[in-house]
Amino acid sequence: MTDPHAGQLDTVMHEARSFPPPPEVSARAHINSPEAYQALWDEAHADPEAFWGKLAGELHWFRPFDKVLEWEEPFAKWFVGGQTNVSYNCLDAHLDSARRNKAALIWEGEPGDTRVLTYQMLHTEVCKFANVLKELGVGEGDVVSLYMPLVPELAIALLACARIGAVHSVIFAGFSSEAIADRNHDAQAKLQITADAGWRRGKMLPLKETVDAALEKSPSVQKCVVLRRTGSEVSMREGRDFWWHELMAQASPQCEAAPLDSETPLFILYTSGSTGKPKGIKHTAAGYNLYAKKTFEWVFDYHEEDLYWCTADIGWITGHSYVVYGPLSAGASVFMYEGAPNWPNEGRFWEIIERYRVNIFYTAPTAIRAFIKWGDDWVTSRDLSSLRVLGTVGEGINPEAWMWYHEKIGGGRCPIVDTWWQTETGGIMMSPLPGATPTKPGSCTKPLPGIEPAIVDVQGQPVKPGNGGWLVMERPWPGMLRGIWGDEQRYREQYWSKVPGKYLAGDNARRDEDGYYWIMGRIDDVLNVAGHRLSTIEIESALVSHPKVAEAAAVGRPDDIKGEAVTVFVTLKAGTPGEELRNELKQHVREQIGAVAQPDDVRFAATLPKTRSGKIMRRLLRDVASGSETVGDTTTLEDFNVLAKLRRDEK
Ligand code: WTA
Repeated sequence: MTDPHAGQLDTVMHEARSFPPPPEVSARAHINSPEAYQALWDEAHADPEAFWGKLAGELHWFRPFDKVLEWEEPFAKWFVGGQTNVSYNCLDAHLDSARRNKAALIWEGEPGDTRVLTYQMLHTEVCKFANVLKELGVGEGDVVSLYMPLVPELAIALLACARIGAVHSVIFAGFSSEAIADRNHDAQAKLQITADAGWRRGKMLPLKETVDAALEKSPSVQKCVVLRRTGSEVSMREGRDFWWHELMAQASPQCEAAPLDSETPLFILYTSGSTGKPKGIKHTAAGYNLYAKKTFEWVFDYHEEDLYWCTADIGWITGHSYVVYGPLSAGASVFMYEGAPNWPNEGRFWEIIERYRVNIFYTAPTAIRAFIKWGDDWVTSRDLSSLRVLGTVGEGINPEAWMWYHEKIGGGRCPIVDTWWQTETGGIMMSPLPGATPTKPGSCTKPLPGIEPAIVDVQGQPVKPGNGGWLVMERPWPGMLRGIWGDEQRYREQYWSKVPGKYLAGDNARRDEDGYYWIMGRIDDVLNVAGHRLSTIEIESALVSHPKVAEAAAVGRPDDIKGEAVTVFVTLKAGTPGEELRNELKQHVREQIGAVAQPDDVRFAATLPKTRSGKIMRRLLRDVASGSETVGDTTTLEDFNVLAKLRRDEK
């Protein structure tokens, strides 16, 4: 078998190790046994609306909802008729208890500067910035685009939008000006928020400069707020650009949270799909808020005195749900670190955990693979005994990396929660619970209460136990996406058309004899590079937009650190294959999409191998990219004719 994805699956299938929840974790856990988990899941299964309706009592309601769910497939409305406010639930709700003076955010910048914001302080900042937004003409339903470093002001800006019913669209600060402009245009963003620059490995990323270029092509954006973070020189356009600190100096700290309809859009977050155009995933207030809160509490077994650190950037869904909305609505203390894990050296994370006594640590498999590569000494020289629960997200974790995480970081005593979910799902869907679920390295184990996955074949029929198939969800859940921004048709087609009546996640999975789920990778042309979703077509379109490129195919190949690395094959209509053009093309993709999508390898081909119907034979290119078949010197033209013919003859 030469399919690298199939190969990964084989190793996973032979995994037989299992780890029961440590007794000392179960002893104090909110959900403390497999039976307690099952009872909760059964309760939700028996009457999902009663289950979610009861939990919704944990949010603040300006007006109670009349109905838990209105489901007109594929459109859901949760907590119909109710009025709430996400910013209220994250802030005001904690101000009349001892949480008022508890740290909400404990932040450390890459250069080592630190800040602590209590719930009261965060509330004040959010109210002030909400007033700034109003002053700038932003109101309910207006879209605010953010391109920021990982600083407290990013969380402040999100909560301020939520407070007045504005819709935020965060664009990860690794994207290019083209990508910002596309997203701003699609969302018809009215306001841009950015910073002069951000720190990354001791260097400054010129965020404002990138935004300046984007705003040339973002006619809907009228104004831009600029946070001073690094103090680097930026150009400020009179009448359009305003300094954050100047606006804040004038702003009143009084701003009541607006009573907003449950289904008020909260944010748009763009993610890659299987076509070239990124999808603006839409989430709305009440259902998302409740789902982020409950899943945070269940999965991390959060206790009042814990310090919780999720290393994700707020530019991704993990940062939205598990840096900002989930933990803050649960009244947690959230640790945030701005910079790179290997600055000033590879021990930065472990030094942070030791110094702040972090209890819950949530990161990505790609980071874990980098830690392994950097060597155990960075880890073993630190006291990590404060850690109690470890989590992973973004892609499957291979069992050996799981074992390393368990032993070296967790000291063999911390349960690992391998959390499966998506931008679309809003929150974690499948995961072990630290005090309840025996874990198996490489499996995201079982669905959370209220979540009903199934595995079906291409006809939509359930597969036999143990067989792989498409992962679908049988029922709506409060955190689910409400659509694709401005594209109802695509929403229907993408998620609800292939398997009628069920949500199609786009992943393959299998369920073992214990009812444990094992994710087997994407079913579409989406790559997972360092935990980030990239669409092959997006990268190909960027390449083909280069004047010398005739045709391009992007494929993933296994990579020790990033999970998948991007290899592109191009045919040329002008120019000469070689190092110079290779770098030019890499740079071109970087400019078009951003550094996240920059190809790791560029290979030149005379022709691309195609099926008789003209489809590029990606499977074959994947084999070539991963080195399982070689075709001569990769610096010159590769000729796939022979290989393609061989492959056709095989069928
Ligand atoms: C993959 C990230 C295996 C999966 C929250 C999914 C995973 C896509 C896991 C969503 C996991 C995420 N095990 N695969 N624990 N978590 N994935 O939208 O393919 O950036 O469909 O959301 O990442 O990526 P997204």
